Amino acid sequence: MNTIIVGTQWGDEGKGKIIDILSGRVDYIVRYQGGSNAGHTVVVGDKQYIFHLIPSGILHRGKICCIGNGVVIDPKLLMEEIDGLSASGFKLKSRLKISALAHAILPYHRVLDKLREIKRLHKIGTTGRGIGPCYSDKINRCGIRIGDLLNRRVFEAKLRDNLKEKNEIFKKVYKHSGFNFESIFIEYLGYGRRLTPYISNIALLLEKAHDKGKDILLEGAQGTFLDIEFGTYPFVTSSSATAGGACTGTGVSPVKIDKVLGVTKAYTTRVGEGPFPAEFSGKFSDFMRQKGKEFGATTGRPRRCGWFDALMVREAVRLNGISELAVMKLDVLDGLKTIKICTAYKYKGKLFKEFPQDQEVVSGAKPVYKQVSGWPGTVTLAKALKELPQQARDYLSLLQDSGGARISIVSIGSSRRDTIFI
Ligand code: IMP
Repeated sequence: MNTIIVGTQWGDEGKGKIIDILSGRVDYIVRYQGGSNAGHTVVVGDKQYIFHLIPSGILHRGKICCIGNGVVIDPKLLMEEIDGLSASGFKLKSRLKISALAHAILPYHRVLDKLREIKRLHKIGTTGRGIGPCYSDKINRCGIRIGDLLNRRVFEAKLRDNLKEKNEIFKKVYKHSGFNFESIFIEYLGYGRRLTPYISNIALLLEKAHDKGKDILLEGAQGTFLDIEFGTYPFVTSSSATAGGACTGTGVSPVKIDKVLGVTKAYTTRVGEGPFPAEFSGKFSDFMRQKGKEFGATTGRPRRCGWFDALMVREAVRLNGISELAVMKLDVLDGLKTIKICTAYKYKGKLFKEFPQDQEVVSGAKPVYKQVSGWPGTVTLAKALKELPQQARDYLSLLQDSGGARISIVSIGSSRRDTIFI
């Protein structure tokens, strides 16, 4: 069975925890897009692991973890993750598979990401990891793929060609001294050599696994509203974070996708710039950020927080074909007297009940809220849905009805056992 896991908001919905739980039940875990802009921390016993590229499923012994062609790989960071896990005793050679077709992030991508951001009129607030410039090169057909790092002649020609043009741009547009061919060439050939044992034809591998009846989890990074096509453009990332990206980013055919699970927070957060109609304001925003520990996993930036936005989740359910939702961090809403759900937007006197495609409308939208009662005490102690306070169950029913998909998982705390399966 092939299952896609996708974020229904602006990323950071808590996909890491769901992937960690479900990884124990599948055979293969596959990343399909994004790069080291994503990040999550998994705690096992007294050890903490931070992942940016390798699927956290690697912590489950015996599982095969893949990085698909749709991912952009920073080879230096990937080697650090491989070395860190190897030092902790994980045998990766037979369990980590990397697509030769994935594009490599080179030092000039990281620098360009930051320089462009400084120059831009409307800042995006990128993670500075070189994601946009690397995907731009891919689309421009001048990118360097992981497989190229394994071939001295091909890598040399491509790197020279890139530096010829890029160094001109660095010098003339950004007043930056540019990059030296030799040092990048030697360093990245070294990464290519070290990554060789992990290179695999992921599309073929997954096809064979599927034919043998294996269970495969295709994990999306970021979320639907950071998707390059359907997100709040231009305040998005540069990849296809929606379910369609799972097919183009791995080579798994769309007709072989069995299920899409959407992950949604019980409220909403966003890191970086861009519209956010249901955003909290003032002191309440700071209060909720502290309560939910809402700070970026990769950059440590404070996340912007707001109420659950039903228009967004309903749009995500439609775009991704989500049949089930996992609602995360319900416990963060513990103790609030009232809770709001954004059910529509108002813009220039017009009411919008579905997520508008016009970014000017999204940017200027005033939220229309439905207000419900909060619950006293905490939801974290509940072992089943029926043990939740009535108000919490009513809130979940409202999320389910307004989101348009069945809630099958509710997370009520950070540990694996704080999870209710419905
Ligand atoms: P980039 O992906 O670094 O180019 O950043 C583009 C936008 O996506 C910025 O607003 C980032 O804050 C946001 N972003 C990228 N990755 C993540 C993520 O994993 N979680 C949340 N926001 C992200």
